[in-house]
Amino acid sequence: MSVFVDLDVPADELRQTLYDGNLIILTRLKAVSEFVDYTRGQLAELFKPHDPEHAHEHFDPPEMAKMLGSWKPSFIHSEQSNKLVHAIIEEAGFPAEHTHYDVPKPRTSFPIGHLTTGVAFAFPWHRDVWYSAPAQQINWWLPIFAAREDNSMSFDLQSFARKVPNSSDTFDYYQNNALRLTTAAQVTK
Ligand SMILES: [Fe+2]
Repeated sequence: MSVFVDLDVPADELRQTLYDGNLIILTRLKAVSEFVDYTRGQLAELFKPHDPEHAHEHFDPPEMAKMLGSWKPSFIHSEQSNKLVHAIIEEAGFPAEHTHYDVPKPRTSFPIGHLTTGVAFAFPWHRDVWYSAPAQQINWWLPIFAAREDNSMSFDLQSFARKVPNSSDTFDYYQNNALRLTTAAQVTK
């Protein structure tokens, strides 16, 4: 398993490289910068006059859950968010007419001691297929603010093709969706 930075190959090869268990970092997509600018603007507006990266110092967990609980769905389903995601996929070389894409899902996590549940839950180690993601799905991640060691995520590339203990056979997609209806209101569990 390898990490490739700005791998310059046709989209089909890019896709196969990912399916083989490698990680690709694309640093030059203009559409990603546009998506980042748009999202930063949204968060600056939501938390103004405070710096979004320090918002947890100004709003307590219930306030934060309420703010994010209404902002997240509006961002996820806005026409502008979807246009920008579409542009990223196209710029990477995937033909729009042959590519299904999902809406963008912002992750908003805070330091321990603040809101760490519901809308701010940081998922523990997992494979996305354990949550019923289709096997052919390609996930994209991008930082909205500068990535540092203490504010990002890790990949376990060594375990890509390895069997690891899990309880995904007990996962019920429909039950999970039903429970998620109240996620935004969860402040302590
Ligand atoms: Fe995931």
